[in-house]
Amino acid sequence: MKLSGKVAAITGAARGIGRACAERFLSDGVKVVISDVDNDALDKTVAELGRPKELCAVHCHVARRADVDRVVATAVREFGRLDIMVNNAGVARNQDILEITEKDFDDVLAVNLKGAFFGVQAAAKQMIAQGAGGGVIINMSSVNALLAIPTLATYAISKGGMKQLTSVAAVALAPHNIRVVAVGPGTILTDMVSSAIFSSDDARRSVMSRTPIGRGGEPSEVASVVAFLASDDASYITGQTIYPDGGRLILNYTVPVKDK
Ligand SMILES: NC(=O)c1ccc[n+]([C@@H]2O[C@H](COP(=O)([O-])OP(=O)(O)OC[C@H]3O[C@@H](n4cnc5c(N)ncnc54)[C@H](O)[C@@H]3O)[C@@H](O)[C@H]2O)c1
Repeated sequence: MKLSGKVAAITGAARGIGRACAERFLSDGVKVVISDVDNDALDKTVAELGRPKELCAVHCHVARRADVDRVVATAVREFGRLDIMVNNAGVARNQDILEITEKDFDDVLAVNLKGAFFGVQAAAKQMIAQGAGGGVIINMSSVNALLAIPTLATYAISKGGMKQLTSVAAVALAPHNIRVVAVGPGTILTDMVSSAIFSSDDARRSVMSRTPIGRGGEPSEVASVVAFLASDDASYITGQTIYPDGGRLILNYTVPVKDK
């Protein structure tokens, strides 16, 4: 219970990795504000997680600064402070690079990069206002911050930018005792990935041939890295991205894949 008594806010937490982070924080004694653009999914998650004294939810489209500010304000109103901010909301569009419109580019960058920037700013302002105690800001990146998949240009560009957002904010906010870090998962078995990637055997084989651990990751295996980075066990880590990726980034060749 190293995080017991802390207050966290998470964007894009109605499902997937964000929801897993909320569950992990709750089991570690953290009070949590979850937020999402999808109100129905958010209501369902609140009902399923229960814990009304430690959990509350607020609508948020992360590309809107006022919405992100409201997430932080909700943490302060409901739980008195903010110690941990997880900028998790993200979208991906599979497209040929030549087909990407200006709107496609703006939409993905607005959620994945501008949204995270708003989260960094809003959280940091609150943490500074609270005094010297500082805090931790965690950006949900991806192996695509470093890797180049030709049909994921807007996504990769946004996560590449997030790497520098994390580094620059870490340096700027270190004097305020705020650590800024990122988590860059490989292929994690969220709803999106299970239906879009693991539904086709070719696609599954393509990903698994590049995954030495030989399976997709569970959302809880990302949440445990988030919990570590949020804790004082990670007190000397700032500005870096940690990659829970089943060995994907270090692999320089493909590996044989077992048939299902
Ligand atoms: N699943 C993976 O394999 C994987 C790998 C690397 C990185 N990631 C990153 O992890 C994060 C979460 O991904 P996931 O797999 O859980 O996805 P998901 O699609 O399962 O969940 C994402 C959540 O974000 C919400 N969301 C979308 N746009 C939003 C917006 N504008 N404002 C607020 N909420 C919004 C969605 O409604 C959804 O609930 C993303 O940043 C993604 O890029 C995922």
